[in-house]
Amino acid sequence: MSAPFLRLGVNIDHVATVRNARGGAHPDPVRAALLAIEAGADGITAHLREDRRHIRDEDMARLKRAISKPLNFEMAATDEMVAIALHTRPHASCLVPEKRSERTTEGGLDVIGGHDHLKIIAAELKRAGVRVSLFIEPSMEALDAALSIGAPIVELHTGSWCDALFHGEAAKADHEFGRIRVAAARAYELGIECHAGHGLDFDTARKIASLPQIVELNIGHFLMGEAMFIGLPKALAQMRAAMDEGRQHAG
Ligand code: PXP
Repeated sequence: MSAPFLRLGVNIDHVATVRNARGGAHPDPVRAALLAIEAGADGITAHLREDRRHIRDEDMARLKRAISKPLNFEMAATDEMVAIALHTRPHASCLVPEKRSERTTEGGLDVIGGHDHLKIIAAELKRAGVRVSLFIEPSMEALDAALSIGAPIVELHTGSWCDALFHGEAAKADHEFGRIRVAAARAYELGIECHAGHGLDFDTARKIASLPQIVELNIGHFLMGEAMFIGLPKALAQMRAAMDEGRQHAG
């Protein structure tokens, strides 16, 4: 297949993490979102967690009002979050698992055990015109369940692959990347739009860009860390260049 353009969704959660460390209004995640768009982001992602540890309700409302590119609202599949999403009307809602004690989203959704509940929530969001994405493990079972739930999009969790690389576990990393490659191809066969994210940096974004079925990457932590050293526009430009380079080898 010929590879379509690979979109970059920028997750601005950690601008809010830094802001909340002091309890004031600075740095403002909405300002970061506007700057990211100016610097080439194709969309903005923000996760309103149950404990509001970074993004807050008013951030989500302000983002929706302020930005000109699609807003991807990451959320747990709870009644509270569905009500906020229905009120906010983001471009997309990415349903993620959430545990209070975790540092970040640790695994994909339990799309098999939670199938019936997720199906109801997906239908509710779809009726409101919100595109529904499920954050899943790169497995055949999860993809089949996503299809049955009726999600038009899946986001493949890249965390295990990136962790294996970080720990120098080459064989495990190859295995994990293989799972992502096969899952992306299967999503395409099923007619499900395929995104990916979690733990990506310049090198892993370059590599995953070579999978032509993946049309969007959502990246936050690494980009915001780089932004501290070289500024957000430069960090985004380097990420874009890495993705474009990887995409040239797609197929
Ligand atoms: N995609 C999803 C569904 C996530 O939960 C996260 C983390 O909030 C990301 C992408 C971005 O991951 P990272 O911050 O590690 O780039």
